[in-house]
Amino acid sequence: MKTYNIALLKGDGIGPEIVDSAVRVLECVGKKLNIKFNFTPYLIGGIAIDETGKPLPEETVEGCLASDSVLLGAVGGPKWDTLPGNIRPEKALLGIRSAMGLFTNLRPAKLYPALKGECPLREDIVANGFDIMIVRELTGGIYFGERGYREGKYGEEAYDTESYSRMEIERIARVAYETARKRNKKLISIDKANVLETSRLWRKIVHELASEYPDVEVADMLVDNAAMQLVRNPSQFDVIVTSNMFGDILSDEASQITGSIGMLPSASLSDNTRGLYEPIHGSAPDIAGQNKANPIATILSGAMMMLYSFNEVEASDLIVNAVDKVLEKGYRTADLAHGAPALTTSEITDKIIEAIANND
Ligand code: IPM
Ligand code: MN
Repeated sequence: MKTYNIALLKGDGIGPEIVDSAVRVLECVGKKLNIKFNFTPYLIGGIAIDETGKPLPEETVEGCLASDSVLLGAVGGPKWDTLPGNIRPEKALLGIRSAMGLFTNLRPAKLYPALKGECPLREDIVANGFDIMIVRELTGGIYFGERGYREGKYGEEAYDTESYSRMEIERIARVAYETARKRNKKLISIDKANVLETSRLWRKIVHELASEYPDVEVADMLVDNAAMQLVRNPSQFDVIVTSNMFGDILSDEASQITGSIGMLPSASLSDNTRGLYEPIHGSAPDIAGQNKANPIATILSGAMMMLYSFNEVEASDLIVNAVDKVLEKGYRTADLAHGAPALTTSEITDKIIEAIANND
């Protein structure tokens, strides 16, 4: 029997509940397709600070690096918000991305037909729907540049710096071209080349590579314009490639036009098959422990793991189709129910499991 060892980083807030849902779904798929999953939990984020004094204990890094892939819930919460930058829960995310070499972040944002009514954009704007794949650079740029405090012209001053090497730009651009090649062959590279030197190098390298991908149509867009175009006409986008910070911002914007951030999974990938999969939403401390959270983004992150880490296409399809079916049948968690009676986290998970089990 095929066996995969998966590290679980449940984290804080709703993290444990949504990861438990994804685990139950994967176990159901495993049973059906004769795949065995060994799940091993490790501490990350606020809970790791509470229990070990560090947001990312060495044991967690070692466990992730020894696993076949990693599933993460969410980190952070008000309890740890006043800690200094280097021991905040969020620091653990940057640390694990860096330790695992996860330079690619794939963030798909598509409009589910069943959720069209949730989209805040005018009906005519989304008449054709949209299906966007954001390829975000994840281990470079301003997130990882030199930063600190110093005495400046006006006294106390803080600074963060952005740098990108040719190597970093080339490898993420290649992932983006390859991704576009498997989709609608349309790549938009987003930068701020009218101001930033890093963006000018980014743009130059993206175009240098174009000759190797003659089947892909590539164009540039400035990030401010892109933010506008995403709400003006989202269906013009197929694959987007952009830097760490621009990708962070634009992916939140893209998530909102799909209706709920509770639906969006992500995959963070390296140059090997070990990845880290997580919902793009946060830890939602206000509803933690109440069995109210939407687990679909995490369940779909499990589907992405099946596809990108293990090439288990059937497993991935089973999960994605089951989620589609459950939404089509009108089942909703509170984030999508507008005050109407909603299913709990565990109830919607049961529905998805039922749909998988019945091949529905
Ligand atoms: C994300 C988050 C993180 C990021 C934070 C929590 C460090 O916003 O995954 O999008 O900015 O990458
Ligand atoms: Mn973000």
